[in-house]
Parts: sequence; C-alpha cells; structure tokens
Amino acid sequence: MITKTSPEVGGMGHSLKRKEDLRFIQGRGNYVDDVHLPGMVHGQLVRSPYAHARLKSINTEKAKKLPGVLAVITGEDLAKANLAWMPTLFFDKQMVLATGKVLFQSQEVAFVVAEDRYTAADAAELVEVEYEELPVLVDPHKSLEPGAPVLREDREQKDNHIFHWEVGDRQATDKVFQNAAVTANVHAFFQRCHPAPLETCGCVADFNSATGRLTVHLTSQAPHAHRTLFAIVGGIPENNIRVISPDIGGGFGNKVPIYPGYVCAVVASLTLGRPVKWIETRSENLQSTGFARDYHMTAELAASREGKIQGLRVKTLADHGAFNAAAQPTKFPAGLFSICTGAYDYPTAFCEVDGVYTNKAPGGIAYRCSFRVTEAAYLIERAVDVLAQELKIDPAELRRKNFIPKAKFPYKSPLGWSYDSGDYESAMKLALEKVGYAELRKEQAEKRKKGELMGIGISSFVEIVGAGPSHTFDIAGIKMFDSCEIRIHPTGKGICRMGTKSQGQGHETTYAQIVAQELGIPAADITVEEGDTDTAPYGLGTYASRSTPVSGAATAMAARKIREKAKKIAAHLLECSADDLEWETGKFFVKGAPSKAKTIQEIAFAAYTNHPQGMEAGLEAVDYYDPPNLTFPFGTYICVVDIDTGTGEVKVRRFVAVDDCGNVINPMIVDGQIHGGLTEGLAIAFMQEIAYDENGNVQGGSFQDYLLPTAVETPHWETDKTCTPSPHHPLGAKGVGESPNVGSPAAFVNAVVDALAHLGVKHVDMPIAPWKVWSILKEKGVVS
Ligand code: CDP
Repeated sequence: MITKTSPEVGGMGHSLKRKEDLRFIQGRGNYVDDVHLPGMVHGQLVRSPYAHARLKSINTEKAKKLPGVLAVITGEDLAKANLAWMPTLFFDKQMVLATGKVLFQSQEVAFVVAEDRYTAADAAELVEVEYEELPVLVDPHKSLEPGAPVLREDREQKDNHIFHWEVGDRQATDKVFQNAAVTANVHAFFQRCHPAPLETCGCVADFNSATGRLTVHLTSQAPHAHRTLFAIVGGIPENNIRVISPDIGGGFGNKVPIYPGYVCAVVASLTLGRPVKWIETRSENLQSTGFARDYHMTAELAASREGKIQGLRVKTLADHGAFNAAAQPTKFPAGLFSICTGAYDYPTAFCEVDGVYTNKAPGGIAYRCSFRVTEAAYLIERAVDVLAQELKIDPAELRRKNFIPKAKFPYKSPLGWSYDSGDYESAMKLALEKVGYAELRKEQAEKRKKGELMGIGISSFVEIVGAGPSHTFDIAGIKMFDSCEIRIHPTGKGICRMGTKSQGQGHETTYAQIVAQELGIPAADITVEEGDTDTAPYGLGTYASRSTPVSGAATAMAARKIREKAKKIAAHLLECSADDLEWETGKFFVKGAPSKAKTIQEIAFAAYTNHPQGMEAGLEAVDYYDPPNLTFPFGTYICVVDIDTGTGEVKVRRFVAVDDCGNVINPMIVDGQIHGGLTEGLAIAFMQEIAYDENGNVQGGSFQDYLLPTAVETPHWETDKTCTPSPHHPLGAKGVGESPNVGSPAAFVNAVVDALAHLGVKHVDMPIAPWKVWSILKEKGVVS
C-alpha cells in the first residue's frame, strides 16, 4: 500500500501540474535547433531519388564552387576513414553515405557543409550523381522468391533473408490444431508506420581541437548509449565525448537509432574544427528515419466448440527494409512479439518470424511500443474476434471465458514470459459497464434491421514493459538497467539526475514525485535533470515505457538509501538509537514520543553542518536498478463506431479506455499519456501508412499523405483505471506510456469489422480509409 502524502508534498497519486510545461507553453523550451554556437556551420544531405540503383559517379565540383560551401563529403571519402558503413543496433551494418549502390529512396549519398543552411541546400542540388536503375523489391514475399535480385551484395549470404526466429512448441501446437473442434485464422498486415515526432531528428556536433572534446547536442532518447556507440565506432575516447539531449519534441522510438546525418555532422566537425548543425526536414524524417511495424502476420487459434482456446500458431514476415536497423534487445530479433499469447490462458503456442530485406528505409523501431508488442497485441485481439465470429459467441464473453484468472499470477505463458500480475476480468467489467455494452448490442441489432452500420470493438490487451532484467536484455551488448542519482542540498532541496530522457512524458514532475513520496521533500523542491552524459549516471534511456519500471524504481531505491543515512543522522541529533526511530512522511520521530522529531530538511542541514563523527558528510545516493522481471500493464478498450454507408466514412462515436498500470505516480500525466497514445492509435487505424509504389517511391513522405489527426478528427476519450500493482516493483508501478498505442488499433479495427460482420466480412487491414470501407460495401451490394 502506498501512503498518500499531503498535496503540498505531492508524492504519488497527486495530479501535479507538469513543471516542464511552464517553459514549453511560453515557447522557452530549448531544442537542438535552438542551439547556436559561435562559428557554427550547416550540413545538408544529398539523397537518392531511386530505390535501387548502382552509383556510377558522383561529381561534387559544382557544389564545392558555390560561395559559402566548405566541404562536400561522399561515401568514398568516408571509406578512407573506414566510416562509410556503421554497425546497426541489430548485428547488421548500414551505409552512412552510399558506396556502390543505393538501396532505398532518400538514402544518404553525400553531405554538404556550408556557412548557412540555404547555401547548403542549394549546393546539395548541384551535386551530380549518375545512377543506373536496378530492379526494385518492395514486397517482402517477392524478396524471398528464388531468383529475386540480391539487395545486399555486401553480405556473404546471397539472398534477402535476414533471420528466422521461433519460440514455443511447434509439434505440440500442430497436434492441438489437428485435434481441435474449431480453428480460426486471420491474415493481418500491420502496415509500415512512422512515429512522426513534431521535432524531427538533428544534431550539432562540436569538436574542439584545443581540448580534444567532442560535444554532440543530439535528439537522443538514449544519450549514454549513443555516447558509447560514438566512442566505439568513431574511435574517440569516451571521456572526450559529451552527448547533450536538450528538450526533445517527441521521440516515440524514432530517436533511438544513430542516423547517418549524425555521423556526417561529427565527421564534418572533426574535419573543419567548427560546430556543424544538421537538422532533418519533415520529409527526410518520414522517408528515411526509423519506421515501425511492417509485419505481415497470420494467427490461428484452436478452440473447443464452447469457446475454450487451446492453442495459438503464428507465422510472420517482417519487412526490415534495406538494413536491419531494428532497435531491439540483442536476444530478440522479433522484439517481444512472443507476448502474442495475450491475456488468455492456454497451454500451447508456437510463433515464428522471418526477417527480410526490401528496397525501403531501414528501421523496425519500437514506436511507442516494447519492441513489437503492438503488432502482437493487435494480432491476438484480432484473432480472438475472428474466433468469436466463427463460434458465434459474443467477443466479450469469449474473452472472459479465456482470461488468465487472477489467482494464476504470476503466470507463465506458453511462449515463456512470466506475467507479474493481472486482473483482466475487472478491467473488462469496468469497461463494459462504462460503455453500456448490453444496451449497445441491442441498439446495434435494431440498427442492422434498418440497414444502418454500427460496430463495437473490444481489445483486452496485455503489455510487457520495463526492459529489462540485465540477464536477458541488452542493446548492442549494453545491459538494460537504469539509474538515478539524488543529491539533497543543505537547505533540504535536491537534484535528481537520471539515465533516462523525457521526450514529453513529464519526467521532471513524476521523478520528483517519487522522491517526494520516499523522502517527504516537496516535489516542487526537487529538480530533475536528464540528458547530459557528463552529469547523469549511465542509463539506457527512455523508450518502450521503461522509465517508470526501471528508472522510477532506481529513484525509489536511491531515495531509500538516503533515508537510511538520514535515519542515522536523526539518531545523532535526537541522541537516541536509530532503532528507536520511526519514519512518517518527511520526518523521523522517537517511537512513543512523536514530538521528539527531526524533519528531513533539518537532517539535510545537519548532513553538512553537524553530521556524526566517522560518517561522511553530505546526503546523496545513486542507484543502478536491475529489475527482476518486466512489468505487465493491461487494459480493456471498447470502441463504438458508426459507418456512413454513402461514403464509407467511419465515425468513432465512443471510446472507453480502462487501463491498469499498477500504482500511479501522477494520474493527470497518465491520462495525458493515454489521450496521446489513443490519438496515435486512431491515426494508425484510419489514416497512416508509409506505403511504396512498385518503383519504391515513398507514398507517405509528407504530411499531405501521411496524415496526423487534429482535434477535429479526434473523438472524446473516456478513460478510467483499475489498479493491480506489480509485485516486484518497489512502488508497485508498471509502465503506461505505450499502452494506448499498443491496445487501441485492435479496438478500432474490431469495431469496424463488427459493423460489417453480418455482411460476411472477417478482416479489414489498416489504415481503414473511407474508400476501403466503401469498396467493401460496394462488393457486398450495400451501395451500388
Ligand atoms: O518510458 P516512458 O516515460 O515513455 O514511459 P512510462 O514509464 O510509462 O511513463 C510515462 C509517464 O507516465 C511518466 O511521466 C511516468 O512517470 C508516468 N507514469 C505514472 O505516473 N504512473 C505509472 N504507473 C506509470 C507512468
């Protein structure tokens, strides 16, 4: 049980307004593009218009002659320094600047540096590149066909297959399917999406030849990991590299990889001895930086006639683009996709994934997602609905029949995960009540009689967040723990430095609330600092909703270490034994004599002015937290849609989201996280796809084609919570940031399919644009 502090202290459970918003709403944030250094120059990338072409020649003479141009760097130049290729986060390598051939449209071909950005852009146009077009592969199925052109000539393996990965018991699962009374299957394509953060990627690389230090102001979700990678790849001593991630305008996984633009800016700064700024345009961001999803999935469920699920079989083709630059833990080529067994209790499952190269931008990043958990949640929640349709059982009832019972936690899934805690029935019950499910089903039946299309979609998703236990999780070899350092000043105020990096999640507020909870120092008196590798303790950064499960825990543990020391100081001040003291938020008092007390502020002052003989002065602690397990947040989302039979437009009438992330630090911030993630889920379900034509031209390369929902398109979100604490997290908290993005696509799609199910529709792939629905209605004879 978490004891609630007073609102003045503002510990866990208080909806404190976000400290950081004061500067953001005044336009006084400090983003990478706000960094202006003396002598700073600007870089611009030349990019390939072709998806697959041999590079015949690159002529940089005209560009170099343009006044104001300082340098033009090509792949051949980088090759001399052994930097034409760089390692990806997933055992592959990626061209920094192209040599030999280009493999996707918008691939980086040359880097122009000029005194100002406009000159750099003009000069980029003057770089003459001669290409010879090659056959293009945009369909991963075709990439695997015999005789398909080999895209990656640099590899020993002469085909386009990257990896095969499987988990579970294939034979036992096949047997379950052979003997099953009922089977259901769904082929679902989770289209290529892009996180599209409002701030694009960029950096200012500043090499000081006098000190030998390289400072990189970087849009980085993982500053420490990036520092280490710069040191390893660039050969610069790590103590001479400082990565500063200032304010970040959204990351959602897009700012985890290292991009060629960063490397080019560093090389240019090392060469010219001047700070070099490189900032992407919107189209560059959408066309070339880490995409997400692009999973072609098949799920089959075996069940009894009564609807008891007996087994799951999953087969997936993963399109990784030209380089396998997936950002996921080393041991998991398909991320945490094996959470695809979902919220349901059955003994047998088998899952296999094949990764494939195509002529598309590289990536496979965790877009608001724990490394492929979004694809997994979507697949199982779609499959359960298809099974319900097959069995003619209400989808809510089928889910309830199969939920892992509360008493079975910790629950070992057939694909190997140990779910920490869950109460899926309670979340479902609350969501059904809130939405008025029984009434809605009656209304739907009435509407169907009149030819009106209304659908109700349910998603009872399970998440897996908080990577991770270091025995299993590492990225590029670096173990996935995280850290917090707290220093309490003599006047009882403090600073808390973290290995994570907020991109808008409100960390400056919530970490301060954890310290407030543990030490009773008001959250307002705690400064939270992230993103400077010179000052913050080493950590793996913020993505995959890991900040609360890992760094939140580190914060609580560091605060507890401080409390232990504070207790000894209090005993010294009160002239008693530490064993005689009791803690009550913000003070130690003598058992049975509450008036004999010392506040944490008094103790902090004494730590610097009157500490016991033999004890070190000061009041500070650092904690590197290695979680014993991941946390498993969950929820039930219910979406109600109406479909306009004239236009095929889907209107989301209601959306009820019941989330459970264990104990909540800041309910208002959690609500904000849910609202944002649901809006992204809506966009994915109905509007967004980075599609390609047969020549590999990007079809979603600007916000004219890759649509972002505005307040006009976004429905009212109805949120609520249940609370099932994590048994192993020191605060009982689970992560939450990605839950709405993970859980909602299935609810939207299930609602649309539910509206069309009586017409014989079993599945509709995202994005469900009006034309797609209208075409189905036409095919089914609903419209002529
Ligand atoms: O790693 P990331 O910050 O993206 O995800 P998170 O750990 O789920 O946290 C997102 C935001 O929600 C942070 O400000 C958290 O402190 C807050 N949160 C919370 O208030 N209570 C929870 N149980 C989980 C997250």
